[in-house]
Formats: sequence, C-alpha cells, structure tokens
Amino acid sequence: MSVRQHIVFLTGAGISAESGLCTFRDPDGLWRQVDPLELCTASALHENPEKVLAFYNQRRRELLSARPNEAHRIVAELERIHDVTVITQNVDDLHERAGSREVIHLHGELTKVTSSRSRLNLSCIKDFPLARPILPGDLAADGSQLRPAVLFFDEYPTFVSEQAARLCREADVFVVVGTSLSVGVAPDLVHLARKDVPRYLIDPDDFSGRIPDGFIHLREKAVEGMRLFRKEAENGFPSFTRFMDGKAD
Ligand code: APR
Repeated sequence: MSVRQHIVFLTGAGISAESGLCTFRDPDGLWRQVDPLELCTASALHENPEKVLAFYNQRRRELLSARPNEAHRIVAELERIHDVTVITQNVDDLHERAGSREVIHLHGELTKVTSSRSRLNLSCIKDFPLARPILPGDLAADGSQLRPAVLFFDEYPTFVSEQAARLCREADVFVVVGTSLSVGVAPDLVHLARKDVPRYLIDPDDFSGRIPDGFIHLREKAVEGMRLFRKEAENGFPSFTRFMDGKAD
C-alpha cells in the first residue's frame, strides 16, 4: 500500500486524443489544418468575429459529443489513494467530467464565455451551454461582444501560472501527460518539479532533449500510459526507487 502523496499532473491535448479531440502539432493536428494566428487572437476576433466565433463554436460542438477516456478516469480515481491536482493546458472539461476535483486551466475553458473588452472581468465570466453557439451580437455583462473564455495567442496567461508554478515546486510526484511542451508556461513548469521526487512523462513521442533528465518516460499513449502509472502509484513508485538506486550505484 502506498503512502498518501500529492501528485501533480500537467496535461495537454494528448490526454484527450483518445476521446476523439484533435491535438495541435501532430501530423493530423489542428494547427496543420488552420492558422491559429488567423482564428485564435483577440485582434482576429475584433476584425472578423463571425469567422472566429464559427471556429470556436465548431470546437464547442466537438466537445459536446466527446467523452472522458480511461486516462482521464484513472487521474480522477487516484484521488482515492493520493491527493491529486491537475494543471491542464486543455480548454476541454473532460478532467472535470471524469471526476477530477482540483483542475487548473492554464489556457481557459471552452465551456465558459467572457467579455471581449476585459476577459478577466469576473462579472462577465460565466458558463455557456456547449449546445448553444456564441453569436455575433451576443453581449457580455459589460456590453461588449461575448467571446469564449479561452486564452488567445496574443494574450498572456495570468495568475494561474504563479499558482501552477507553486504546485509544481511542491509536488511529491509530478506527471506530464500528452503535451509537446512547446508553448506558454508548460515548458518552464517541467523544470520546477524537485529533482528528488518521482517524475514521469507519458507520451508516445521521442522526448530526448526536450525534458529534464530524471523523468521516467512511459512511452505510450495516455490510456496505456496511465494504466502503467496507476500500478506505480499503487505500489510506492518502484520505477523511481530503482532509478534512484541505479543513480546511487
Ligand atoms: N496519448 C498521449 N499523448 C499523445 C497522444 C495520445 N493518444 N497523441 C498525441 N500525443 C502527444 C504528442 O506526441 C504531443 O507530444 O500529445 C502531444 C500533443 O502536443 P500538442 O499538439 O502541441 O498539444 P499541447 O502540448 O497540449 O499544446 C499546448 O498549444 O496550441 C496551443 O492552446 C493550445 O493548449 C494548447 C497548447
């Protein structure tokens, strides 16, 4: 039986790929099909709200028909034996739908809307049913055009980054799942986890040179990778003990 630890997960689009949601930079990724600088910026929303809102309404519809997969469920179920916090770059709500209680969204949430004049104005941020499209002319509480409460490419992550940084520094166990670590604060967060704690990476891709030394790379897709990680979490993280012993030899 494993001692209760604080596990911090840092997840990206890869954990939702087996739920049928696109990743961004893989060969069939979304940014191979559309230019995010034309559709995912505050200036694009200002210049062409129809086009930008149509793009996000399409993603909201896809999320409406998506379901959490086994990887999301294992993350949630681990709360039975460990304290779990999820820091995600994903704007989907699949972690919450799988039952995770502590989820921090670095890049916002597709299930919410906000003001296009001041996106952090709390009185304007509200849930918006996924089945309902956000239309040109829909107004926020401050009278500005309503927009999805996601982080655009010409905007900066806010206070959540400091919160995320603190959690990564304090983690007893740190797990990176399905992110290319290519944008935002995520590439920095992986360097904050302490070197003397179990650190895992779950991703089918080659990560040599892209992640600090000492991460145990479960080179699998999220579902299979999380099944392997669950065994580690249920048995005191034996791969990490072996790794540290190896270093000690
Ligand atoms: N299981 C696990 N990992 C997977 C799977 C899978 N089934 N399929 C792909 N991956 C991995 C890829 O190998 C890659 O490392 O998921 C990662 C996806 O990387 P990106 O497409 O770059 O997605 P992400 O890292 O989440 O992007 C970060 O960039 O575009 C912005 O705001 C957007 O939040 C997003 C941010």
